[in-house]
Amino acid sequence: MSAWRARLGAGLLHPACKPAVGLLLMAPLAALIWGVMQDSLGANPAETLIRNSGEMTLRCLLLTLAVTPLREWTGVAAFARLRRMLGLLTFTWALLHLLAYSWLDMGFYVEDILRDVAKRPFILVGSLALLLMLPLALTSFNAAVKALGSVRWKRLHRAVYAVALLAILHFFWMRAGKLNFGDVAVYGALLAVLLGWRVWRAFGARASTAAS
Ligand code: HEM
Repeated sequence: MSAWRARLGAGLLHPACKPAVGLLLMAPLAALIWGVMQDSLGANPAETLIRNSGEMTLRCLLLTLAVTPLREWTGVAAFARLRRMLGLLTFTWALLHLLAYSWLDMGFYVEDILRDVAKRPFILVGSLALLLMLPLALTSFNAAVKALGSVRWKRLHRAVYAVALLAILHFFWMRAGKLNFGDVAVYGALLAVLLGWRVWRAFGARASTAAS
């Protein structure tokens, strides 16, 4: 094993690695809370909170999807240690995003929220993404993996690809009204690489099985 791989593997296996990644990905929450306290979130703090939590959800989701490619491209198996935590951080940010919207935009009026879901397709798509994430978060623990069996668990967790497609559609649709696609294109391109690599690998594996 080359020196950089050994060093990277040792870093990922270090007991401080997971807490450090967790802190890094939750630090924006502290910054947002601080911003609220200092009244420094701009003219529309509610919008800032909703948008920042939405973007953090998408970032964590892409990081979760990057674990397997990174493991295979680098040959460092220890990347897999981070996957469950990254998935749960994605879910946490999605809940914070929903909380910010339900509270700050909708004042927790369930009827208004349901009306908004029915009226604005991008909210419906975001809600579907969140609903699909729920069984994944609930079955992310060892006991659930054991209870479901590895084949069924893996099949269920393929729903993460649908979550990712719905999430990018949610983002695209929201920005379509403003004809502002800069960030959407960047996140969309990253997602295309992460999902495209999986498709390419699945077809490659099938082709090599057929040839042998
Ligand atoms: C996996 C689930 C979700 C992801 C990944 C996600 C992601 C995002 C992203 C990236 C943005 C745009 C941020 C920006 O402009 O910088 C956004 C905006 C928004 N999302 Fe979500 N979202 C999700 C679920 C939801 C749900 C469940 C709701 C509400 C029920 C929701 C409501 C909104 C609203 C209201 C906005 C802001 C619209 C505006 O400012 O005009 N999202 N979301």
